[in-house]
Amino acid sequence: MTLNYCGLRRAVTSHTREAVLADFPEIRLIEDAALRALTVEAWSYALCCSDFERITDMPAEGNPGSPVLKRGTQADHLRGVVRLALRLADEFRSAWDDVVIDQDVLIAAAVCHDVGKPYEFDVKNRARWASDPSASGQPAFRHSVFGMHVCLTVGLPEEVAHVAVGHSMEGQFMGLSTECVLVRQADHCWWQIAGAVGLTVPGTLGPNHGLTRPRALRSAP
Ligand SMILES: [Fe+2]
Repeated sequence: MTLNYCGLRRAVTSHTREAVLADFPEIRLIEDAALRALTVEAWSYALCCSDFERITDMPAEGNPGSPVLKRGTQADHLRGVVRLALRLADEFRSAWDDVVIDQDVLIAAAVCHDVGKPYEFDVKNRARWASDPSASGQPAFRHSVFGMHVCLTVGLPEEVAHVAVGHSMEGQFMGLSTECVLVRQADHCWWQIAGAVGLTVPGTLGPNHGLTRPRALRSAP
């Protein structure tokens, strides 16, 4: 059997880090400089473990093939989830002054929730898994699990790595932190609404969106 190793395919450079920040400006909302730098490192490391050069090169999909956005890139989803998670937190904090949400953990976790996607979406990885799923599975790890690995590898705290693995299906089997619930709801909500307003490719929403009856987008004038 040919063994496959999932580490870096190229070195992380300052160019990689600059591209991450350019594609994902919401990272700058993280106040703690060390935490902010680690989120940049996580995305840089994840990209360099794949053939994707930058976040905007990645397709705008929840999982490979489902759901799929009609236009845009993965950055549109990631940035939207950060903004939506912040709005959810603001709603509860503004209405209830004793609600406690860690703002930096929330932003860092939202930034990194899909950091495993370069691995799961990588063309070579997908072709290898498809050629023989009996060898290491298909996928070997979903993006949530590989994302947790990326977070811990670059030194992000448990609070952020927990959200990477807990935001998706794996979260059904865990006790979830407050910030994880916020990111998980923002993520799932983002795809639900994207589908309802007609931003997703018909037929790609999957069984979790069975009640959705998408509206057509406004036609070009
Ligand atoms: Fe997501």
